[in-house]
Amino acid sequence: MDLFRTQPISELHSEAASSQGLNKSLSSVNLVSLGIGAVIGAGIFVITGNAAALYAGPAIVISFIISGLGCLFAGLCYAEFAAMLPIAGSAYTYAYATLGEFVAWIIGWDLILEYLFASSTVAVGWSGHTQDFLGEFGLHLPAALHQAPVSYASRGGFQLTGALFDLPAAAIVVFLTILLVIGIKESAAFNNVIVAVKVTVLLAVIAFGAWFLLGHRALAAANLTPFIPPNTGHFGEFGWSGIFKGAAVIFFAYIGFDAVSTTAQEARNPQRDMPIGILGSLGICMVIFVGVSFVLCGMARYTELNNPAPVVYALQHIGAPPVLRLFVEIAAIAGLSSVVLVMLMGQPRIFFSMARDGLLPPSFAKVHPRFRTPYITTILTGAVATVAAGLLPLSVLGQLVSIGTLFAFVLVCIGIPVLRKHRPEIPRPFRTPWVPLVPILGAGICLVQMASLPADTWLRLVIWMAIGLAIYFGYGQRHSKLRRDDKPGSR
Ligand code: ALA
Repeated sequence: MDLFRTQPISELHSEAASSQGLNKSLSSVNLVSLGIGAVIGAGIFVITGNAAALYAGPAIVISFIISGLGCLFAGLCYAEFAAMLPIAGSAYTYAYATLGEFVAWIIGWDLILEYLFASSTVAVGWSGHTQDFLGEFGLHLPAALHQAPVSYASRGGFQLTGALFDLPAAAIVVFLTILLVIGIKESAAFNNVIVAVKVTVLLAVIAFGAWFLLGHRALAAANLTPFIPPNTGHFGEFGWSGIFKGAAVIFFAYIGFDAVSTTAQEARNPQRDMPIGILGSLGICMVIFVGVSFVLCGMARYTELNNPAPVVYALQHIGAPPVLRLFVEIAAIAGLSSVVLVMLMGQPRIFFSMARDGLLPPSFAKVHPRFRTPYITTILTGAVATVAAGLLPLSVLGQLVSIGTLFAFVLVCIGIPVLRKHRPEIPRPFRTPWVPLVPILGAGICLVQMASLPADTWLRLVIWMAIGLAIYFGYGQRHSKLRRDDKPGSR
């Protein structure tokens, strides 16, 4: 039993060249836009406020820089892989070619965690913004249906909220799942429009916020002081440990740039455009996040930002023109739904790649005879995501997604020096600079962020992985295509 057999890279290259009937239509601009479309969502519109209020204070700006640097280093590693192996399975495929089947399974199972629960997390953020927006017109949901039945605090654990179900969060997942099953695809043009709206509105918030802060320096200074609030005596509650915990929590905001790599087979010139798409979207989002988080903490005291729509709250707090607030709400509602859609769409692709390799049952790669969509996995994903969105609070979901994705990034970073050593001859159209320094820094920053997450988030990751291992040894390992074909690995 060889857990570390690798997929032959020559086979992956011929698969990439065949493109499996996918349309090679995406330009570098489309790819950057796709990345921004998947990135800007609940992280910046919701979690930033929560993380500033509970962990980092105004120093959430530093958290964004630390987390962004970790993503940048991991992104440089992703770019080398995506240009070298431009096929759909993303980190799962890279691991299969380099670190072997077992690690590939772990990453694949981890990516399922990322996409599945990220869609639920963002749906909960969507619900908060939609309810705020409807509230502007005096429309309110019954108390039983407006949020999850439990909330969560790092000290005190789960508490009942008195509500039964987050109806809007569940409803948006059901609606988008139906769209995906019947095959209404978010076209690149539609995505470009939503991205333009999101970016314009956030730039407007930065510009308005900066103008306001310059005109109200005393208020800004009061809100931003102390920039690093002193630690409360508990790990992760302000001070430097709070900055790192904040980085781990808002890491969620950056998730999505890696989704660019799942579209590699549809890129016109993947060797050149994958690195541009991955690093371009990441760089633009980093600048926006640092700007928005700074003005947010300047406009309102960080202690008041732990609410479902902190950007809207801060604008309201300083009496910003109602039209700006409305634009933020509309951009958040449209922008968050596009993130849910991308995440729900990415999930079946991962299932598809794993089923194609025999690690999951063949029905997971089944395509609907009429709609030509992977309907079984789309419905399965939608059902689980709906229940999670309706029942669980955003902080629990978001932290679980973050720890899972950070783990995948660590493995991608490790994969670069390993493959350079074992397969130095493979052409690399894009080379990660300063190997092994950049991969070590990428893996290191991601590990520090993982270590800053609470013990119960780790426990949930361990349980998720244990379920994954049971499935791998109960099914995947025995049905693996590599084992059936009895092909030698490529090392
Ligand atoms: N980065 C995405 C968001 O913040 C997942 O919604």
